[in-house]
Amino acid sequence: MAQSRLVVVLALSGLTAWLAPNGPVAAEGGSSIRTDSDSAGSLATLSTNNFNAGATNGFFANVGTNGRTCNTCHVEANGWSFTPQHAQSLSSTDPLFTPNDGSDCPATSSSQKANSAVSSEVLKYGLIRIMIGIPSSANFQLASATNPKNCAIAPGSSSAGGQLFMFRRPPPSANLIFLSAVMWDGRETLQAITTQQNFQSTGSLTFDLSDQDNGATVGHAQGPSIAGTQTDADMVAFETDLYTGQGTYSVQGNQPGGDPPLYQDGAHGGVNHLANQVAQGFFVGINDPLKPGFTNANFNLYAAGEPTISGYPNLTSVQ
Ligand code: HEC
Repeated sequence: MAQSRLVVVLALSGLTAWLAPNGPVAAEGGSSIRTDSDSAGSLATLSTNNFNAGATNGFFANVGTNGRTCNTCHVEANGWSFTPQHAQSLSSTDPLFTPNDGSDCPATSSSQKANSAVSSEVLKYGLIRIMIGIPSSANFQLASATNPKNCAIAPGSSSAGGQLFMFRRPPPSANLIFLSAVMWDGRETLQAITTQQNFQSTGSLTFDLSDQDNGATVGHAQGPSIAGTQTDADMVAFETDLYTGQGTYSVQGNQPGGDPPLYQDGAHGGVNHLANQVAQGFFVGINDPLKPGFTNANFNLYAAGEPTISGYPNLTSVQ
């Protein structure tokens, strides 16, 4: 109990710091920031469009047939993914557990409903079952596959259409400007992503995300295609305006001034610098070690606190 009260107080102090009139946070062009407490302090999300989900409420709209929305698996307070703790907090029949991909095994009948009792991968690890076959163009064949969950429809079997079961966390549906490929395996990168500095040449990123949204609606939410609709456009606009990152860091019981924002003392943690500085400078290839001008000193958000910087400050707040 004492622990949870501490977290609330810390989250509020983080919020105050974000909104301090003379603080480092410039509320630019309708930008807004929300915070959620997490185990390390508080998590921040900045939306450059004031969390506007569009006329259709796309990202939060129930446009499928199983009750899911994008928000079922991409949750603000969980860094726009979802955690096992979140799954465990839901009712056993929540749409997160629908058997199209939220159960350990494929459904054996079309009347099978959401039931967390058969969703240990979701509950324990926050993993969704993604079924993919070996491409016909592959220069290898599937020789055998194990069936650790003893599924009636076994991975790799003909009843599974030869598909294997990949259990995957949802990546954040935020910070998407930094993507050079879409999905863990890059399979939604239909057009090669060409993003340049100052948000130039993002057409291929938008194209890929638009196709991804449609695939998610048809696959995860078992809905009709939304390709080319206002709903699709609203989903892409909402998610590409989101930036998320840790805002404050809590060292339990050891902070004289309270919960330190990660942007104080010249540091550049938090979400405002990410959205208003880092994003502008990003281009695909920025981390290419073979490019002229490449420097390996890229992780410099906290350079102001490093001992090698002249005027090295005493690390009173974040040590
Ligand atoms: C059932 C849970 C679930 C639902 C519902 C869901 N997603 Fe996802 N999402 C995932 C998983 C799992 C992945 C990763 C899959 C993979 O890589 O094979 C993913 C990947 C993504 C990615 C790729 C991010 C990256 O870094 O490559 C985006 C963007 C995304 N989802 C947006 C959406 C949108 C928009 C919706 C609503 C139309 C949606 N998701 C609905 C689970 C979900």
